[in-house]
This record gives sequence, structure tokens and C-alpha cells, in this order.
Amino acid sequence: MTDTADRDEPEYERDLLLQLTRRWGRKVAVKKDELDLDGHFDERLPDFPEHLVPVLSLPGADRLDRDARDRILSAAWIAYNAKTAAIEDEIILPACRLMLQERIPVRRDDIAVAALHQTIIDEHYHILMCHNAVGVTRRRRDLGDVRFAPDIWSVVRGRSAARAGLSGFDRDIVDIAFSLAAETTISGFLSTLSTARTIQPMNRITTDLHRRDESGHAVVFRELCGSLYRSLDPAQQEMFRDALVSGLAAFRAADLDSWVAVAAQGGFEIGADQLRDWAATRPAPARDTGPLQLLLGDLGISPDLVETVPVHRAG
Ligand SMILES: [Fe+2]
Ligand SMILES: [Fe+2]
Repeated sequence: MTDTADRDEPEYERDLLLQLTRRWGRKVAVKKDELDLDGHFDERLPDFPEHLVPVLSLPGADRLDRDARDRILSAAWIAYNAKTAAIEDEIILPACRLMLQERIPVRRDDIAVAALHQTIIDEHYHILMCHNAVGVTRRRRDLGDVRFAPDIWSVVRGRSAARAGLSGFDRDIVDIAFSLAAETTISGFLSTLSTARTIQPMNRITTDLHRRDESGHAVVFRELCGSLYRSLDPAQQEMFRDALVSGLAAFRAADLDSWVAVAAQGGFEIGADQLRDWAATRPAPARDTGPLQLLLGDLGISPDLVETVPVHRAG
């Protein structure tokens, strides 16, 4: 479609959600042939980039042999997928289902409902993609015992803390604001691996397939959460903004307990305090706030909101 055609279309044709829902069947991972995971597994290559594993920068890590380091990298990949699946299952899918409920004042025409159902299918498929890829890693690396509980992640704990004591519509607002924080930041989270050229092709490709779907979700969440936010009263809007800030902070917070468990896979005994102290001395990682700025602009929220998000390091 050309720009000229765009201008001549009726308004509904310029609807981003309409365009997305029409393209969905051709674009998304769930509609493509399944990736041959074992065919993209090269056991000589590491499963995760070393520079994204903070425990490998701690004192004593330099004494780990190659095998121990490789086990830590494989466990880091399993942890990364466990975190991704927990975000989908605990934060995003419940919020998508909430936005289908009559009591939630979001845009709910047929196109919006279709976009939500498509997103639910995508996100559930992403959980399956993580599950399948990690299954190959467990088998090929002999790491069947490495498991992570859903509540080990800062973002899941952060959402629990933010909704504590709330019920009804107030809790719904918090849940949806957290999902918006998730959908605004997950592309960046996935990009760190999908662009890593030195790692296992299976890991890079499967993460990239996921990341491609998320660019569509960002539009869905901006549109739907925007329509919700504009229908809230000032007190509810404040609650939404507070939960969004909490969500963004939780997404940047260090997952200390999971890193301790990852290090243990290589026989490297560390404490969460040791990792926290080390991380506090490191510069904050660069981050792309573009999607967030777009969103805040849509909602009419000051960009200063981003600056209030505390920085937690060590990923
Ligand atoms: Fe996803
Ligand atoms: Fe998503």
C-alpha cells in the first residue's frame, strides 16, 4: 500500500490494529513451519554470550575451567527462557484475557478483540517455543535438573508486591500496567540474544522468531492500554502510572537468586549479596527507551516518568 493510497483510504483502513490483524496469518511464528531445532544445534558453540552472564565477572570466576563455564552458559540460556515464559504466562497472558472482559474499559470492537486473541495465541506459542528449545538444551547438554520456579523473577515478584492489598478494578489496572511495561521492554530483552552472532544458532534463531512477533504486540498494547488509560479518572490514572513505573523498575531489576542457581551448575558457589555488591559498582547498561517514549507520548504522560525508574543492574 502506498502513502497516496493510505491518504485515500477510509479511516478504518488506517487503523494500525486492522492492518496488524490482516497481516497476522502471514507474519507470525505460529503460522510458520516449525524450526528444526536439533538441525540448528552446534554443540561446539556456547549457548549464551559470556558478557551477559554477570557471575562470570565475579572474583574466582577466572579459575573455572572450560567445561564449568560452558555449563554456566547453558544454564543461563535455560534461565533466560524460563524468565521469558514466566513473563508470558504470569504477566502478559492474564492481562490479555482481562482486556477481553466487559468490565475493562478498553477498545473492544471486532478488530481489537481479534488482535487480543491473536496476541494470546502468539504468547502461548512463545511459551512452547521456549519449552521446546530448552528441551533440546537439557537433552544435548545433560542438564535435565535445571529448573526455575515462576516466582524467582523480579518482575513476577514486583507485580505481586504492586497488587498486594488491591482487589477488583484497582488490581486489574495494576495487572494491565505491568503487562504494558512487559510489552514495552521485552523486545530489548530478546534483542540481546537475537543479535548475538557467536552463540548457538538454535538459540539465536528461536529468540529472533519471538522478537519479530513482539513488534506487533507493542502496537496492540499501546492501542489498547492507551484506550484504557484515557477512560480512567485522575486517581486511577495515577495508579496506572505508578504501576507502570514499578513494572519498568521490576523489568530492570537483577534476578539475583537465578544467577546464584546458574553459577552452581558450574560448581561456582556464590552468594546473592556478593553479586549485588559487584553489580552496584558497575555502570548501568545502555538501553533503548524509544518504545517507551512513544507510549508515554501517546498517553500524554511526561517523559520524566522514565527518569524516575530506578536502575538495578546485573540483569
Ligand atoms: Fe511473546
Ligand atoms: Fe508480546
